[in-house]
Amino acid sequence: MVLMITRFAVGFFLLTLVGVFGVTFAGRGSQNKLPVADFGKTKDGVSVSKFVLANSKGFEAIVSSYGATLVSLKVPDRSGRPADVVLGYDSLEGYENGSSYFGGTIGRYGNRIAKGQFTLNGQLFHLPQNDGPNCLHGGKIGFNKRVWTAVDRSRADAQVLELSYTSGDGEEGFPGQLKVHVTYTVPAGKNELRIDYEATTDKDTVVNLTNHSYFNLSGNLGADILRHELLLHARKFTPVDATLIPTGELRVVAGTPFDFTKSKAIGARIEQPDEQLKFGHGYDHNWVLERTKQAGLQTAAEVFEPTSGRVLDVLTTEPGIQFYSGNFLDGTAVGKGGQAYAHRTGFCLETQHFPDSPNHANFPSTELKPGQTYRTSTIFRFSTR
Ligand code: GLA
Repeated sequence: MVLMITRFAVGFFLLTLVGVFGVTFAGRGSQNKLPVADFGKTKDGVSVSKFVLANSKGFEAIVSSYGATLVSLKVPDRSGRPADVVLGYDSLEGYENGSSYFGGTIGRYGNRIAKGQFTLNGQLFHLPQNDGPNCLHGGKIGFNKRVWTAVDRSRADAQVLELSYTSGDGEEGFPGQLKVHVTYTVPAGKNELRIDYEATTDKDTVVNLTNHSYFNLSGNLGADILRHELLLHARKFTPVDATLIPTGELRVVAGTPFDFTKSKAIGARIEQPDEQLKFGHGYDHNWVLERTKQAGLQTAAEVFEPTSGRVLDVLTTEPGIQFYSGNFLDGTAVGKGGQAYAHRTGFCLETQHFPDSPNHANFPSTELKPGQTYRTSTIFRFSTR
């Protein structure tokens, strides 16, 4: 009986997807195959898809092959009601025209490289200066603006989507052909989204991959995020100059508005007269994560939203995390359901190597050589309180 009801429920869910979403299934007959829907064509006429990774607990991620982008993430609140907790657009056009990096995979180099240049093995490389004097998020056409190849790798215990992209030698000024794989996983029994990054190169290069989701755990993507309570497992951060390039210093957070070692509302100190907050127009900085073990996934951040009760834990293998409080959102980006995203209506927790590492010998290295494999992982884990 229970089995019949479950089957009926699953069948009904799938029928609803077909009706509302126009989806087909990558592999009919197998329950684990991902529903896939057409997401339109790019301006260049390339077809783009979106895939649904869900579990039976009301947790659902939708990922597009455009930019290997997380376009929607439905997460239950403390009473079990799911709501979308990430900013984004309804249409592919939104992502193609947008300049906020909503949900995108960022590469070849996440965050800034000073003056769009770096030296590797004595050779100077020039990158696009697309953010004042600096190169931001991989240049003019970063990985978030490329169409990736998607392969359904779902297993009995998880929904899995692997996205691949080959970045040519010299693309956006970076040396070496880089083969990148980004894998999104939603495990059957857990409300979490895992992202695994892998890359190989045929020449020495630099790599720093991340995801640029803007979260608003209230489920109301029009509300500001200032009452979200944040904890960061970091006793130091990397202060920046007026163009948001790290000075090279690792500064202690104690006694400053950058101290999130105990949970604090994002808005509690954001308007304090602090030079670093002034440079960032709020928080837009890299924190140096504490490691209690050498390698592996460790909790970097914990966020609690009091009205919905949603909790987000961010786990990563990376040494740093960029906490960005959505300071450049100003209502001009009009997203899902016609919602204009006003100032600080989303926050990002971008797991990463430190910004501008190729120009700082004292930062963990971002160099990748032929024969090596770049591997990092991040988990966005949800619960309620
Ligand atoms: C990152 C940067 C910010 C900003 C956003 C996108 O988080 O650090 O300065 O560029 O991306 O707007």
